[in-house]
Amino acid sequence: MSSSVTSRPTSLYGGQAGRRITVRDIAAAKERGEKWPMVTAYDAMTAKVFDEAGIPVLLVGDSAAMVVYGYDSTLPVSVDDLMPLTAAVVRGSSRAMVVADLPFGSYQSSPQQALETAARFMKEAGAHAVKLEGGRRVLPQVEALVSAGIPVMAHLGLTPQSVNAFGGYRVQGRGQSGDELMADAKDLEYAGAFSVVLECVPADLAERVTASLSIPTIGIGAGPATDAQVLVWQDLMGLTPHPAKFVKKYFDLAGEMDRAVRDFADEVTTGAFPAPEHSYH
Ligand code: KIV
Repeated sequence: MSSSVTSRPTSLYGGQAGRRITVRDIAAAKERGEKWPMVTAYDAMTAKVFDEAGIPVLLVGDSAAMVVYGYDSTLPVSVDDLMPLTAAVVRGSSRAMVVADLPFGSYQSSPQQALETAARFMKEAGAHAVKLEGGRRVLPQVEALVSAGIPVMAHLGLTPQSVNAFGGYRVQGRGQSGDELMADAKDLEYAGAFSVVLECVPADLAERVTASLSIPTIGIGAGPATDAQVLVWQDLMGLTPHPAKFVKKYFDLAGEMDRAVRDFADEVTTGAFPAPEHSYH
């Protein structure tokens, strides 16, 4: 039996290592008002950096469709595309909870389909939880997963898998649709979701939803009041050419990589690399 059975709850960001973060730790953080960070990860080395920095939850987002596979939306990516990325993130981390995003078309048709897809992510890739998009229309799926013992992260607001129905990537929940989003959030909590992502919604709506729920809200373009914040790592590190308004760029990775690869190329062409210390004698 794992040691997590007996160990105490831990502070989420940068807290005690030695075991994985669980849904109980996440619930306890909401109770004590701790705000926490979540980032996406798609490979073992990046996951290790984020895990060792104390990030408590790593999301293997279907944003991989765009940042890993080069598509222009999240729609084309499949379960088979995301499965090895999820397994790599699990292998690269030892403390973070790893959440697998269920891709478009892998859960909408029935609770049974959702259960089969989620079970693959848990059994074959080692994910600790799954995320799916939508409100009341996916409640049967959420209930089926929760009753099978699978922690579910919900996702409301600008749900990118519905980009065609929304007519583009635009802010959701303004006016009356904010009441619907609030009702969706409450129903998802009642159905057993352990957290809910709020993407691209007005800050005051996110604040009201956060105050109304006992499960944590995780904001992305949802203002400062949510319990947690998530960013796609390529956005926060400055690799994405044209990030959304809600992104803060913490590093110029594209610029640094450009400089480094040009230095390498120059040294190859001039013969400065490899030097004697890079050669076997
Ligand atoms: O796929 C993803 O990366 C996401 C986050 C942006 C929440 O859903």
